[in-house]
Amino acid sequence: MALETHAHTSANVIAVAEAAALATTAARRLIARVATGGRSAVCLTGGSSPQGLYRLLAVEPWRSQIPWDRVHWFMGDDRFVPQSDPLSNMGAARAAFLDATAPSQNIHAIATNSGDAETAAQLYEDELKRFYGADRLDPARALFDLVLMGLGGDGHTASLFPRSAALAEKTRWVVGVAKAGMEPYMPRVTLTLPTLASTREMLFLVDSAEKRTILARVLGGEDLPANRAYSNGELVWLIDRAAAPETAA
Ligand code: 6PG
Repeated sequence: MALETHAHTSANVIAVAEAAALATTAARRLIARVATGGRSAVCLTGGSSPQGLYRLLAVEPWRSQIPWDRVHWFMGDDRFVPQSDPLSNMGAARAAFLDATAPSQNIHAIATNSGDAETAAQLYEDELKRFYGADRLDPARALFDLVLMGLGGDGHTASLFPRSAALAEKTRWVVGVAKAGMEPYMPRVTLTLPTLASTREMLFLVDSAEKRTILARVLGGEDLPANRAYSNGELVWLIDRAAAPETAA
């Protein structure tokens, strides 16, 4: 079901029945974005909402539809912990599907074993620029084919928290976040809004009744980080009925 919202004139809201349908719908969209053409790039997200999708990608009938040699996997933000830590976003994605499917040279993790979050941000920015082949993002040539996004209970997305200076960043591709706005409070590294926007499709995944209140605020147009996110390509909010505000259910 496609829904109109006042907040996102250019956003498409797709509501599905439940979390399992959210995962299969996301898998179909991801496959459509990477199935054809040459090298492609997907920017993953942390949190609970994408985990169902990640588990699907490791199994049939989804797994064999992905040209693993040609797809590169990045992370939109990570907590400054080793990948072996249960709080690591890339650690979770590796465990769910990447380690079983993707060539290791196609997995681009934020270097959370480097000195500090700011150093890791600079290293990841360098890596993204090398991958893209330029130091400046060209609105006509997307860095990513698909960017997955989550929605935090305070309206944050990636590690861009309400009132954070990082929300206004226009030059840096990646920044260190010394203090997260919400638990877990360790430093983070996050792509900035213009970097996340450099995509053919940005896909928010929002499930569970816990998200209902914040999703209603976002779709109502409130000035929250998730509403500052934009896409140079398509922008899609994929939500399940439990998360959907009353009017959208
Ligand atoms: C992170 C995530 C974050 C996440 C939201 C939603 O590192 O914290 O990338 O942005 O997407 O916090 O998380 P949940 O789906 O677990 O609520």
